[in-house]
Amino acid sequence: MQTAIPQPVVSRLSRAAIFLVVNLKPGVEYETQMRALCGDLASLLRAVGFRDLEGGLSCVMAFGSSAWDRLFGPARPSELHPFREIVGRHHAVSTPGDVLLHIRATRMDLCFELATEIMTRIGDAVATADEVHGFKYFDDRDLIGFVDGTENPVDTAAADAAIVAGEDPDFAGGSYVIVQKYLHDLAAWNTLPVERQEAIVGRRKLSNIELDDAAKAPYAHNVLTSISENGEELKIVRDNMPFGSAGQGEFGTYFIGYARSPTRIERMLENMFIGNPPGNYDRLLDFSKAVTGSLFFAPSATFLDAVEAEPERNAVDVAEHGRDRSIGA
Ligand code: HEM
Repeated sequence: MQTAIPQPVVSRLSRAAIFLVVNLKPGVEYETQMRALCGDLASLLRAVGFRDLEGGLSCVMAFGSSAWDRLFGPARPSELHPFREIVGRHHAVSTPGDVLLHIRATRMDLCFELATEIMTRIGDAVATADEVHGFKYFDDRDLIGFVDGTENPVDTAAADAAIVAGEDPDFAGGSYVIVQKYLHDLAAWNTLPVERQEAIVGRRKLSNIELDDAAKAPYAHNVLTSISENGEELKIVRDNMPFGSAGQGEFGTYFIGYARSPTRIERMLENMFIGNPPGNYDRLLDFSKAVTGSLFFAPSATFLDAVEAEPERNAVDVAEHGRDRSIGA
C-alpha cells in the first residue's frame, strides 16, 4: 500500500498566515465545487508558490465533522467530532466551521493571492465564517509580549505529535486541528507587573527562559498545557499568530494546534478553562477571551489529490460505459 503523504502540517513557522474558516451552503452542487477544489489545491499552490520559491507558500485544508460526511461519505476519521465547548472558570465557545484553510508564507502577498484564487473557485459555495490575517511580531512574540512557539516539537518529533499513523490506518497521514481566536484585554494585561505576567506564562518575558519547575506557579500556562500519558509527554504542534486592528483597538492571538488525536488538545483546554485540579485555571484567560472554537481533520495530501468532484457520477460512468473519469479516461 502507498504511504500517504501528509499535508504541510509540520512546516516551518512562517512570518505571515491567513486563517480562513468557511461554511458550505446547502446543495449538492456546492459539495461538487468543494470537492473539485480538493483535487486542484496542489496545482493552485504550485502556480502561486512558483512566483517566489523563497516564499515558502503552503496551505493545509481541513474539514469539520458534518462537512466531512457531506463531502466524503461514511468512511470517516475515527476521532472527528464537532468542537466541544467547555464551560469552566472561563468559556471555550464552539463555533461553526466546515472548512479551514491555513495558508502560510514568508510574505502576506503570497498568502493573499492563494486565498483569492481559492475563493474564486469556491466563493459561491460557501459563506465565510472568519478570516484572520496573522503576522509575526518582534522576535516571534505574541501581542502579550512573550515569545510564542519555543517548546514546539520539531522534525520527527513534530510528525510524531501531529500525524495520524497506525492507530487509524485508513486516515494515516492526516492530522486533527483545533483553532481558537483569542482577543486580549491588553490594557489590563499591561497593568500587571512583569513578574506577575511571567508567573502566568511560566517563562521570563525578555529572555524567554523557562522558569525553574520549583518556581513555577501551579496555574502557569506551561504547567497546565504540559500533559502526559504513561509517563510520556504528549506534544502538539502549534503555530499561533498575532493579529489585530490598531484603529479598533483589537489585539489577538489566533491559536492553531495540530495533533494526531484531538484528545491531546482537549485535555490542555480543560486544564486551561476548568483548571487542574478544577479551579486551578489558566490566568491568561482572565485577559484573553476565546471568541471562536472549531475542530477539523486535515486528511493526507494523498487523500486530497484523489478526491473526485463527482464520485457518484463517475461510479455510474464506470459501471454503465466503462469510462473512468477519475483516471483521465
Ligand atoms: C491566548 C492564547 C495563547 C497564548 C497567548 C499562548 C502563549 C503561549 C506562550 C507564550 C507559550 C510559551 C512559549 C512556547 O513554548 O511556545 C506557550 C506555550 C504553550 N502553549 Fe500556549 N498560548 C495560548 C493558547 C494555548 C492553547 C489554547 C493551547 C492548547 C490547547 C496552548 C498550548 C501550549 C503548549 C502545549 C505550550 C508549550 C508548553 C511547554 O511544553 O512548555 N496554548 N503558549
